[in-house]
Amino acid sequence: MSSIDSVLKENRLFPPSDDFRTKANVSGLEGYNALCDKANSDYEGFWAELARELVSWKKPFTKTLNDSNAPSYKWFEDGELNVSYNCLDRHLEARGNKVAIIFEADDGAVTKVTYRDLYQRVCQFANGLKGLGVTKGDRVVIYMPHGIEAIVAMQATARIGAIHSVVFGGFSAGALRDRISDAQAKIVITANESVRGGKAVPLKSVTDEALGLGGCESIEKVIVYPRTLNKCEHWNEERNIWWSALIKGQPTDCEPEWVDAEHPLFILYTSGSTGKPKGIQHSTGGYLLGTQVTMKWVFDYKENDVFWCTADVGWITGHSYVTYGPLGIGATQVVFEGVPTYPDAGRFWSMIEKHGVTTFYTAPTAIRSLIKLGGDLPKKYDLSSLRLLGTVGEPINPEAWIWYHEVVGGGRCPIVDTWWQTETGANMIAPLPGAVATKPGSCTLPIPGIIADIVDEAGAPVEPGKGGFLVIKKPWPAMVRTIWNDPERFKKTYFPEEFNGKLYLAGDSAHFDENGYIWIMGRIDDVLNVSGHRLGTMEIESALVANPLVAESAVVGKPHEIKGESVVAFVVLKGNRPEGEEAKKIAKELREWVAHEIGKIAQPDEIRFGDNLPKTRSGKIMRRLLRDIAKGQEITQDVSTLENPAILEQLRHSAL
Ligand code: WTA
Repeated sequence: MSSIDSVLKENRLFPPSDDFRTKANVSGLEGYNALCDKANSDYEGFWAELARELVSWKKPFTKTLNDSNAPSYKWFEDGELNVSYNCLDRHLEARGNKVAIIFEADDGAVTKVTYRDLYQRVCQFANGLKGLGVTKGDRVVIYMPHGIEAIVAMQATARIGAIHSVVFGGFSAGALRDRISDAQAKIVITANESVRGGKAVPLKSVTDEALGLGGCESIEKVIVYPRTLNKCEHWNEERNIWWSALIKGQPTDCEPEWVDAEHPLFILYTSGSTGKPKGIQHSTGGYLLGTQVTMKWVFDYKENDVFWCTADVGWITGHSYVTYGPLGIGATQVVFEGVPTYPDAGRFWSMIEKHGVTTFYTAPTAIRSLIKLGGDLPKKYDLSSLRLLGTVGEPINPEAWIWYHEVVGGGRCPIVDTWWQTETGANMIAPLPGAVATKPGSCTLPIPGIIADIVDEAGAPVEPGKGGFLVIKKPWPAMVRTIWNDPERFKKTYFPEEFNGKLYLAGDSAHFDENGYIWIMGRIDDVLNVSGHRLGTMEIESALVANPLVAESAVVGKPHEIKGESVVAFVVLKGNRPEGEEAKKIAKELREWVAHEIGKIAQPDEIRFGDNLPKTRSGKIMRRLLRDIAKGQEITQDVSTLENPAILEQLRHSAL
């Protein structure tokens, strides 16, 4: 694999076919360059024109960008709009009977919802929320299975000007509590259970547990959607209300709450380099514009496309390319409740065939696991409806890229490798598929209007081939507005003083190649990327040390063939270092503990016990050494600053 990687990496170039290029929304490099030139010559004018074209305003804006209080940038601030209006009402006349959502449940049952149906469901639910006293600016936590109701809940919250915070259904009670408490939410919307891969996963009981942990006194009601026929235990008549009871008798129209462009649309928590997740707060107008412009340019959206982004609404990709991007532009999209490997590893391919998917957007980790489980399976299905493929979440290795291109895309579909983040709101660096030739493993060039660069510690641009910090040099409409409750952390993390507070620091390292293409190398902070999910090492460490047995821990990532990275935890117990069977037993307990504290996705794949951790004389844990040990590599670095060099030998032999 590694030899293929190095052979393919820099050399192969895949230009779009003549046919794709001719029909594309942005055609040829001339088209791309013309847009970039426009952005360069009149940056604000460029974005203002797009905002007028792609977003429907109740009250037009007159100011485009306000940077007087940088880095708290404001876009289109005197404009008024509603995102749900943009996603539903504005399509009713031309597309009322068009299918908005083709929902396929875990068990294969298909439900189709038209734009008119969806509008009515959202309005009813929005009226129900209003009936509970939810008003503009209130926070609503959504802890639901991926599906139609989760989208309805998000759209309805946006419709009444409330702020949603979706918590991924795989997170545990502790993680849910932290998010409810930080957001001071008034309502939780959940389901009795979710169903994935044939198994039911409890949600309501986890919600009850979270509320019981304390810190959630702001919660007034918990709305429960009955996803399965299984009963809910501990029904609390005062606090709980069924989804059906909430919407009963509610009108199917609901005047949207018109809000300022800068009104917060949502908060989404994501990992950073401390133990506390960051509440990334997005705006209304700028965010919506980011999703629309990238649907048009990166996904080359056409009216008869069938769009399918496989991400769960619990992540930013599910926000931007399930709930808001496709609905905003009036697309028909597939929403899939289950997992790619159930009932077998042909699920994605069978669904592409069944629903005639034209545009398919998924994560490299899914692609790698499907290659491993059934690299020939796509050939059993008719995938000729596909015209465009995409990836997101982590760098894709060239071997997986080539397989995706050949076996899934039949060699005819461009692949858009889209680099972006929870904080950026929408795709930032990605090939416009009818314009920019792709290279396996590179996210290629910034989209027009995004001014990206790679700089050294002093903020000076680096030469091609040299690694540096990926930065964005100008504010853009869909950018994060602040960290909820923590504006200081927002400034320090994203607009650090080292760069005069002027550059947005993405937290990734990257390099340019000789064609100016960007290659993402990985995170520079203590954030891991496990199966495309962002996990802070500190979060896992705090969970571990919260266990009564644990004195200290350090978590590092280790390259993993399918997941991208796997989690390795070095642990020092309060008592003696365990060995043999006892060590295995405690390791199992600790893995379960982390699953309970944060969620299964954060469980260490490997736990290693030591008497101590390698530390400098000033007490700082030398993680780089731990990374080498986890990888089983020789330590070639200088260890002279180490307080306790002998510990390295012990840890090297600590694998269970
Ligand atoms: C990584 C996901 C390489 C990167 C949308 C980033 C990528 C982090 C790519 C954000 C890509 C995302 N190539 N790396 N195409 N896309 N990343 O917030 O490290 O969950 O900083 O947003 O994922 O993860 P997040």
